[in-house]
Amino acid sequence: MWMLQINNVNDTYGKCEEIKPLSGSVIIFGASGDLTSRKLIPAIFNLFRRNLLPDSFYLIGMARSDFSDETFREKIYASSEKSEKFSEFLKRIFYISGDYSDQTYYLKLKKRISELDKKFKNNSNHIFYFATPPVVYLPIIKMLGHAELTDEKTGFSRVIVEKPFGYDYNSSLELNSELHKYLKESQIYRIDHYLGKETVQNILMLRFANTIFEPLWNYKYIDHVQITVAEKLGVENRAGYFDSTGLLRDMFQNHMLQLLSMITIEPPYSLDANAIRDEKKKLINSIRPFDRNNINSYIVRGQYSDGIIDGKSVLPYNRETGINSDSYTETFVSSKILIDNWRWSGVPFYLRSGKRMNKKLSRIAIVFKKVPHYIFGNELNTEPNVLLLNIQPDEGFEFMVQAKQPGSKLCMNTLNMKFRYNPSDSPDAYERLILDSLIGDQTLFVRDDGMGISWKLFTPVLEDWAHRKQNNLFYYSSGSWGPSESEALIKNDGRTWIN
Ligand SMILES: NC(=O)c1ccc[n+]([C@@H]2O[C@H](COP(=O)([O-])OP(=O)(O)OC[C@H]3O[C@@H](n4cnc5c(N)ncnc54)[C@H](OP(=O)(O)O)[C@@H]3O)[C@@H](O)[C@H]2O)c1
Repeated sequence: MWMLQINNVNDTYGKCEEIKPLSGSVIIFGASGDLTSRKLIPAIFNLFRRNLLPDSFYLIGMARSDFSDETFREKIYASSEKSEKFSEFLKRIFYISGDYSDQTYYLKLKKRISELDKKFKNNSNHIFYFATPPVVYLPIIKMLGHAELTDEKTGFSRVIVEKPFGYDYNSSLELNSELHKYLKESQIYRIDHYLGKETVQNILMLRFANTIFEPLWNYKYIDHVQITVAEKLGVENRAGYFDSTGLLRDMFQNHMLQLLSMITIEPPYSLDANAIRDEKKKLINSIRPFDRNNINSYIVRGQYSDGIIDGKSVLPYNRETGINSDSYTETFVSSKILIDNWRWSGVPFYLRSGKRMNKKLSRIAIVFKKVPHYIFGNELNTEPNVLLLNIQPDEGFEFMVQAKQPGSKLCMNTLNMKFRYNPSDSPDAYERLILDSLIGDQTLFVRDDGMGISWKLFTPVLEDWAHRKQNNLFYYSSGSWGPSESEALIKNDGRTWIN
């Protein structure tokens, strides 16, 4: 295969400058946890470094662990870069320890907020970030509401809710209804960090800012689409969370479905958050529901056994620390999805995601149909055109076309036109999303109705699996591409996974 590197053209159009929010502070619940130290603090600090936080910015960490402002700052400092800028950032960080179910904890928070609003001249604009395990979302929202911290009497009051948003269809409805007792939908930011990734945002530009793709973007020209989100890691230090959640809830109901909808929605009438989310809702509603009597033909679940990753032997899932030896939690899912609408009639979408896979890869492959009449003879390459959207690693896209190879008269090969983002140009997804929440842009966040219907789609599968327990759970070697049943899922249709 030849490679043609396409460089970024320097001329840029549109609003290339970031908007700096006028005012706002961030209060993180679960501030002693992994997400806060690994993702949120670095993302917020990067915004600070890029001068994109409001001048009135401050951050309050909330959790049960006993820290003072000073010891919390020391904890953050220990796992961060050591620079003058970071020391400056730390002066805006505070911490209150307490019990989430105790109303006095929220009264303390209210008092602290009022003092810090005055000190930093913040006009009562607050983001409450729920980075705790989901079991405490409901008590927190209730207590915030009772303390009148969700009222928007003077400034804004918004909540960012982490995944998993509920456990199934009914629990997501319950969580939504509890949130709506205290907040309007415009105050709720359900985060799906995949939507903050550059390549994922680029899907809309690629589709709707170019004329060449949209005419081909349908059942007439597209044979099928593959979406792969694979990682080499196992459960690491999140065994408790993962074992009670499983891969379908962790990846499919949210990230995979969001990627699928970005690829398949109809053109929205504008970039307005609700215009895009209306289209997503329509799209997810048109996904063919899984037939309860035939779930196995459309969705495969697997669990990793032992194997080799990066030359080292690794343990099977059910011998990992914190996992029960008889656990039947899935660490791999692949699925064939059909969309019953005019544009996508008959086009299969093959989705797969797993842990302990052969390589770390998040990619969407749009595989076009072969030409209707081939004049070059059977011995020549007859590969279809493929558009690859690389989410990670190597963020960017590639387009494969057939072209003449210099030399003999009839020599053809696949030419790969490749565009790669410069990694230093791509801010972390959490930076984009936290900044958007401070600005009040909900485009990249999931709306209540979209959340509900995505759970509705997968809840029958979850119920079927809970009923079957170990039955139809297929084991795969760590370091492979999943169980052979996943290969069969696509091979039965005469296609193969693109690895
Ligand atoms: N980590 C990630 O990469 C990641 C990625 C995507 C989404 N998320 C989601 O983000 C949220 C936080 O993730 P995390 O990995 O930071 O979780 P975590 O480390 O397990 O928990 C965060 C903090 O919550 C508190 N906590 C734990 N169990 C609690 C309980 N039963 N009741 C009250 N507080 C409890 C703990 O602080 P105290 O004991 O000090 O109170 C802990 O430090 C979760 O909903 C997770 O699903 C995480």
